[in-house]
Amino acid sequence: MKVSKLMLGLLLSCAALGIGAQTIIKFSHVVAADTPKGKAAEFFARKAAELTHGKVKVEVYANSALYKDKEEVEALQIGAVQMLAPSLAKFGPLGVKEFEAFDFPFMFDDTAELHLITQGPVGASLLAKLEPKGIKGLAYWDNGFKSFSANTPLKMPADYKGKKFRIQSSKVLEEQIRSVGGIPQVMAFSEVYQALQTGVVDGTENPISNFYTQKMHEVQKHLSITNHGYLGYAVIVNKKFWDGLPTDLRGQLEQAMKEATVYANKIAQEENDQALAGVRKSGKTIVYEPTKEERLALKKAMAPVHIKMTDRVGKETLQQFYKATGFDPTKL
Ligand code: LMR
Repeated sequence: MKVSKLMLGLLLSCAALGIGAQTIIKFSHVVAADTPKGKAAEFFARKAAELTHGKVKVEVYANSALYKDKEEVEALQIGAVQMLAPSLAKFGPLGVKEFEAFDFPFMFDDTAELHLITQGPVGASLLAKLEPKGIKGLAYWDNGFKSFSANTPLKMPADYKGKKFRIQSSKVLEEQIRSVGGIPQVMAFSEVYQALQTGVVDGTENPISNFYTQKMHEVQKHLSITNHGYLGYAVIVNKKFWDGLPTDLRGQLEQAMKEATVYANKIAQEENDQALAGVRKSGKTIVYEPTKEERLALKKAMAPVHIKMTDRVGKETLQQFYKATGFDPTKL
């Protein structure tokens, strides 16, 4: 009797001190495990376990197993999951429209230009804008540049006319599709394969890593390597949960995130290259590399999106982006 009372006391004080209790972080995402984001999430989970000596367990849920696009941010805000890495386009619908600057067509020439934003003060100030929404931004993870696909060849802007393209929920992306006479169709990522298969939409845009791992090449005859816009992620956590973690644990998780970010950004291009090789090898989709002239024609056709959407996204943010990238839509 005496012993069990002692044990109970010990257990209760351990629980009060958090000793022995394991913190679970549910990390939900919508893409396949075998993608830049999927692999980086698994890397973070391993690092977190290692650096916290098992005090934190990160459970990764891939392929919209828990939530679809829009639902996942809401789930984070109410604390049903603790960590996500939504694409940057997902923050516009949340009311932080400045993030839609990332969606502007041809904004970045390459990843080095992108990193001037995501790894600099502008990127940090954008993440800070999420805090009033109960969200803390921890890092940016790369994916890559998007390409367009359809069942008919996509070379010149006229080839997009009258076709329905699935896009993420972004006013800038809607305008991008309209600029070439296409019909934008907002849809959750998990529904794209079926929509392409059944002809609900004619085409889509995504980095090749997403295109290939969702098997979209099975239901699209043509893929045009347009690299017309960027798609990448912000790793975010429920702010209340994060701020409530013991300082030492939070520090270890920050270190794990730092290492996962280096890893994510190192593998992103490789993963996209391998995915493209996979698409080519499948023989199911014709991969087309637009000529310089064709790409310029697309760039010119889409340039008015920048002017039209300036007020929505905000002049100040756009000027910061243009200053870093040197892009000038008025000079096309
Ligand atoms: C999409 O909806 O196309 C992307 O956000 C998917 C992703 O997370 O890469």
